[in-house]
Amino acid sequence: PAVELITCRADFDRALDRFAVAGRTAVVMTMGALHEGHASLIRAARERVGAEGLVTVTVFVNPLQFGAGEDLDRYPRTLDADVEVAAAAGADIVFAPGVEDVYPGGEPQVRLSAGPMGERYEGASRPGHFDGVLTVVAKLLHLSRPDVAFFGEKDAQQLALIRRMARDLNFPVEIVGVPIVREPDGLARSSRNRYLSEPERAAALSLSRALYAGRDAGRLAAGPHAPADVVEDPAAIRAAAHAVLAEAARAEPPVVLDYLGLIDPADFTEVADGHQGEAILAVAARVGSTRLIDNVRLHFA
Ligand code: PAJ
Repeated sequence: PAVELITCRADFDRALDRFAVAGRTAVVMTMGALHEGHASLIRAARERVGAEGLVTVTVFVNPLQFGAGEDLDRYPRTLDADVEVAAAAGADIVFAPGVEDVYPGGEPQVRLSAGPMGERYEGASRPGHFDGVLTVVAKLLHLSRPDVAFFGEKDAQQLALIRRMARDLNFPVEIVGVPIVREPDGLARSSRNRYLSEPERAAALSLSRALYAGRDAGRLAAGPHAPADVVEDPAAIRAAAHAVLAEAARAEPPVVLDYLGLIDPADFTEVADGHQGEAILAVAARVGSTRLIDNVRLHFA
């Protein structure tokens, strides 16, 4: 399948105008180094808009969302391969603008603020990160004019904030979340996995193992007849996950925990005892110089 690679705003505008009346339009935003997780977003987008619809994949490593000392300079750039992945998954357009095209005149003076929900968990570890994410997502929504935009549950706080932005600021777009795609052994797919050495890759498995251990402990508490993702007992969930992470912290190479959270997705605060409904068990940790995140969704009955 053919995909059109577009690298400047004016060409992108013209391409969108050509498609304007034909059907529904979807966008999948990425920073490139596309993998199976991104591909599943693109497939979901294609499925949603049908053969007549337009699926755009944006590839842009957004400097605004990287902090000092983060991996902006070594972030993998693999545009040729990305175009192949996007085409195979059913995209029509890959829009890969340069930094000057997205931020003419340098960093924007006016930006979005993620608010308190953007200051906890990922936001606490990466100050300003979500302001940078929301600013570029807003810009890319304006540039790509979609009916529907797809984001991964892998970045759970990002997804929640983008939903919140669309609602709070009346963006005329539907936001759709897509489940996490994992390696067969459970490691969540990530562009940053390619930084990992073999021993680091093995150590990184403790993130998903900790989440599953937490979920299993909650299930046990909920009883043998409860449906698969139904849990109880926040303390038991946290303890079981922490036990796996404590062991991984003592191993070689060590897994250095940033946070483990049992999170209420409504406002990204820690769930209280007696919590009902959805929750996210989320973890962030460093293995060597690579920072990894993962999460599982739970349901408190
Ligand atoms: P990036 O990390 O490239 O991710 C692009 C999209 O792919 C995000 O919505 C992310 O949640 C999703 N994704 C990544 N790994 C996934 C996996 N294993 N399973 C399912 N979905 C996965 O997230 C960003 O880029 C940026 O912050 C961006 C939104 C593009 C703004 O710059």
